[in-house]
Amino acid sequence: MTTPKKQRTLTEPFKIKMVEPMRVTTEEERVETLKTAGYNPFLLRSDDVFIDLLTDSGTGAMSQNQWAGMMQGDESYAGARSWEHLQRVVRDLTGMPHVLPTHQGRAAERILYGILGGKGKVFISNTHFDTTRANIEFSGAIAFDCLPAEANDPGTELPFKGNIDLQHVRDLIIEHGRENIGAVILTVTNNSAGGQPVSMENAISLRKLCDEFGLLMVIDGCRIAENSYFVKHREPGFENKTYKEIAQQMLNLGDAFIMSAKKDALVNMGGLLTLKDDKLAVKCTNLLIISEGFATYGGLSGRDMEAIAIGLVEVFDKDYLHYRIKSTQYLGDHLISKGIQVVRPIGGHAVYVDAKSLYNHIPVEHYPGQALVCDLYLKGGIRCVEVGSVMFGKYDEKGKLIPAAMELVRLAIPRRVYTQSHIDFVIDVFDDILESKHENKGYQITYEPEFLRHFTASFKPIM
Ligand code: F0G
Repeated sequence: MTTPKKQRTLTEPFKIKMVEPMRVTTEEERVETLKTAGYNPFLLRSDDVFIDLLTDSGTGAMSQNQWAGMMQGDESYAGARSWEHLQRVVRDLTGMPHVLPTHQGRAAERILYGILGGKGKVFISNTHFDTTRANIEFSGAIAFDCLPAEANDPGTELPFKGNIDLQHVRDLIIEHGRENIGAVILTVTNNSAGGQPVSMENAISLRKLCDEFGLLMVIDGCRIAENSYFVKHREPGFENKTYKEIAQQMLNLGDAFIMSAKKDALVNMGGLLTLKDDKLAVKCTNLLIISEGFATYGGLSGRDMEAIAIGLVEVFDKDYLHYRIKSTQYLGDHLISKGIQVVRPIGGHAVYVDAKSLYNHIPVEHYPGQALVCDLYLKGGIRCVEVGSVMFGKYDEKGKLIPAAMELVRLAIPRRVYTQSHIDFVIDVFDDILESKHENKGYQITYEPEFLRHFTASFKPIM
């Protein structure tokens, strides 16, 4: 009889060539710094943060090939070599002829939704990311999320909880009239709904629905490589396809693709808008030139475009993607083993902790998610973000909070930055959280702006 093979430690498929020191702070210091930041981690100085899980956006480490590519950036105003390189890679991936480089994802959103939006228009998505919703609403249009009911339960284990609810989309189109629909947007993976993937089957069905009503289908795909990993391993029929082939197939379904390159293009800054339609591309290019830059660099320098072109190839490396998805799962699995509820299954770029169940003594009006965010900083110098009623809550006419569907806290993992021991530290801090959570009574908002309030709002603890 052969003994089963012991599972080996998950190792990072890279070694470290340059180091960035991290400052260790004490809990006493952090009590003061958090207070000064109005109990909002967005307002903390990064020097006061030990492990930064605020976002996976623009926080990754570039490879030696990307850094080498930066040295070869062609900074010509028009028709640069680096632009041609980027255009080639992006056309190959998306199958779309028109490639517009922007300085980040939301600039692409502003251009596209500024043109498609406006008063009376309606946008439909599995879940609009916060900047997507803000750009749509800023144009005067309205945005509806169509997530299947089961996806709003953090505990249900389903392979593709990021999917769009097709029946709900159909109902909304009929209710509002097809001529009023600005676009249907598939967010891949579905960031605000737990980083959950979207299946190819769902994307194909959405394409058919858009064709039936003659609607534009946009893929917001900044984590398209991570989504491809889940399709290959969870959806029958894709086992023998490469990650890149899966991404190509999905992107080809769209009429437009928006990408914040700060995620799966493995760079610190950049964005893309790609389009199939010639006329729409002309309109978008005009706005690009007015607000971002000339068509062959948009919001980017030549070296940025070089790094994106290289990153968009590297991200589909099978060892990288395996490490990426499994290391995120490692954090989630350890929290689950402590009895902490997280959105399941674990998504690609982040672990989403269900703060409503962890801090079940705090009512939603006192923001249990913000309570956990503050405790993680106080106990461990860990920075993360609330994805609940601070981010998505609204008020009714009487000023009463209409809470978000879930009260989550996102622990987003920067790409190729933290090692397993850093993540083990985060796991240990949760023991302290569990021990002292009852001391936390929640928070109250003391200042909030009109749009995207979570970035700049201030809070005070409930005593
Ligand atoms: N779409 C999705 C799905 C995103 O996750 C983001 C950014 C954007 C669009 C906007 O891109 O930041 O380059 O302007 N998400 C970051 C996050 C900020 O932390 O999840 P951007």
